[in-house]
Amino acid sequence: MNVKETILYSVVIASIGLSNIYARRSVDDAIRNPDEVKIVMIGAGYVGLVTGACFAAKQYAVTVVEKDQRKINALHNRQIPFYEPDLVDLVDAGFRRGSLKFSDNIASALASAPHFIFLCVGTPPLPDGSADLTFVRQAAQEIGANLQEYAIVITKSTVPVGSADMVKAEIQNQLTLRNTDILFDVASNPEFLKEGEAVKDFFEPDRVVIGAGSEQVHTLMSALYRPFVKTNNQLICMNIPSAELTKYAANAMLATRISFMNQMALLADKVGADVEAVRAGIASDTRIGPEFLKAGIGYGGSCFPKDVTALADMGRQHDQPMTLIEAVDAVNLAQREYFIKRIFDHYNGNVAGKTIGILGLAFKPNTDDIRCAPSIDVMKALIAAGALVVAYDPVARENMQRMFEQEGIKGQYCFVNAAIEILHDADAVIILTQWDEFKRLPAQAFASLRDKVVFDGRNIFDPISMTSAGLTYITIGRNMPR
Ligand code: UDX
Repeated sequence: MNVKETILYSVVIASIGLSNIYARRSVDDAIRNPDEVKIVMIGAGYVGLVTGACFAAKQYAVTVVEKDQRKINALHNRQIPFYEPDLVDLVDAGFRRGSLKFSDNIASALASAPHFIFLCVGTPPLPDGSADLTFVRQAAQEIGANLQEYAIVITKSTVPVGSADMVKAEIQNQLTLRNTDILFDVASNPEFLKEGEAVKDFFEPDRVVIGAGSEQVHTLMSALYRPFVKTNNQLICMNIPSAELTKYAANAMLATRISFMNQMALLADKVGADVEAVRAGIASDTRIGPEFLKAGIGYGGSCFPKDVTALADMGRQHDQPMTLIEAVDAVNLAQREYFIKRIFDHYNGNVAGKTIGILGLAFKPNTDDIRCAPSIDVMKALIAAGALVVAYDPVARENMQRMFEQEGIKGQYCFVNAAIEILHDADAVIILTQWDEFKRLPAQAFASLRDKVVFDGRNIFDPISMTSAGLTYITIGRNMPR
């Protein structure tokens, strides 16, 4: 470029910069008075509804958009479409205070000219393990088609690195089609909410990760989250790719710890070690710590399985194979197979005609979520082999029953309303979810099992107490004597 063109280019860039700075003033002014902050959450799932309700609890004006008519009808009736402790009261309070509203379409929600627009739509795994961004792309297009004033558009869904660029391009494309030049920014703000503890995790975060392309957006997003943190150090600002990758790195690290201990458990069974003793031995190292080192049948849920495979796929996409992450996934799948084999081996490969109870269907306690739950694989294997499976879970039973009906699973199985129904009329029992109500069962409670055998996929009991009660107690990593 010649001198004249360089000067003109600089003026254009400066004017965009100045107009961006001016445009952000609307957010900057609002953030000083929480009840003037307007937020739209797109998606009323575990992330969108929890985040929206928690924002509303701090006086922000929140509209949660949900396209699923069944869900939005439930929300308008103050019913939560999934089990999450503390969420009902929080939603009710926000609804009554008027700081939490629901809508079934993005256009009407954007008519209020929100300052922050969070994308909290699903990113389910595709057959090749990559994340399906269809819903993210559709939402970005609808935002672009209906944006009225400057806003920060934030991806909170777990999305591969580079997704915020796609969101930005889709929005800009719609604005161009509308022949409109409304300014906006994009940002990445991954969530770290655990199902069953999501509200607590939001109000007491370890950290808030904020990915943005400018200091101003970092500042505005940090101000939005300041009421939720104890110190500013917990507001961790970085560029957008780093924030997008941080989410996958966090879940992959947690999943790695679990697969690491699960592989230790298999070796422990071979050498007469107790994996729970090994866990205590390493957890006492302050560099390791005790969390996410519990061996068992492995992890399930809507996050770890999909995020681990998506991260491995991201590695392939960028010619950087993530061999360790691929191994984490392989170990987790093999753990289920190992446990199912232990059950069949106990019956010399033939469970036909056996009545086998399943205690725990959810992928973890305090949730009704059965996505990728080990219980699905275990139940299907036993039913297919001719066992009569009797299953119980404190809250996830309806979801499992619905899934089995929708899949038309054939065979002998039923669902009961209490653990005692199983303990009084089964040959054996399998523990698959570490619910507190199962942990409280005394060893004697299993003595009425006809075969007096307990297969514990979550290592919730003490082996000595169980064997002393005359039970055969089969676990993962605690079968000791060699
Ligand atoms: C996870 C992450 O913890 C959370 O930060 C992220 O935002 C979403 O994904 P979640 O999937 O809800 O949360 O449940 P989590 O408590 O992490 O447990 C996941 C699975 O790991 C469960 O099946 C659990 O049983 C299993 N698990 C957990 C173990 O097998 N061993 C452990 O020590 C801990």
